[in-house]
Amino acid sequence: MGVNPRRDSGAAAADPVQRRRMLAWLSSVGLFGSAVLSAFSNFVFIKPRATYGTPQRFSIGKPDDYPAGTRIAMEARRICVVREGDKIAAISTTCTHLGCIVGLSETGFACPCHGSRFDTDGHVTGGPAPRALPWYQVTLAPNGEIEVDKDAEVEPGSYLSV
Ligand code: FES
Repeated sequence: MGVNPRRDSGAAAADPVQRRRMLAWLSSVGLFGSAVLSAFSNFVFIKPRATYGTPQRFSIGKPDDYPAGTRIAMEARRICVVREGDKIAAISTTCTHLGCIVGLSETGFACPCHGSRFDTDGHVTGGPAPRALPWYQVTLAPNGEIEVDKDAEVEPGSYLSV
C-alpha cells in the first residue's frame, strides 16, 4: 500500500495557509529587492561623476628641474616657478585686474590685456591691477617632488628650502 500522489498534492493545494505564507514571502522578497535596487539607482544618480575644474594641488617635478636663478611660467597651471639658490616658490600668473595670464618681463610680470605691471615678487608697479599676484604654498612630497597648492596662499617672499 503506497502513498497516493494525487491525494498528497491535493492536500497541499488545499492548504491555503501554507500557500499564503509562500506568496507573502515571495512578495516581501520582491518588495525588498526593488527597494534596494531603487535606493542604489538613486545613489548612483545623485552622486556626481564629473570633476569640476583642474585640481588645485599638483606636482611640478623635482627641484633639480629648476636650476638656480630660473623663472619658469607654466601657462596651463597659471603659475610661475621661481628658484633662487636653494629656495623655490610659486607665484600666480593670473592678473588681479580681470584674470588675464600675465607674461614674464625683464622687470617681473606684464599683463597683455590692460597693461598692468608687476615686479619679480608680484607687487603692482603700474596699471589697473588692484593687488599683487598671490604666492602659493609649495611643499616637498615624500617622493621628492615639489607640490603646489593653489588653494593655499602664502605671504609673498615665502620660499621653500630644497
Ligand atoms: S586683466 Fe591684466 S590688466 Fe586687465
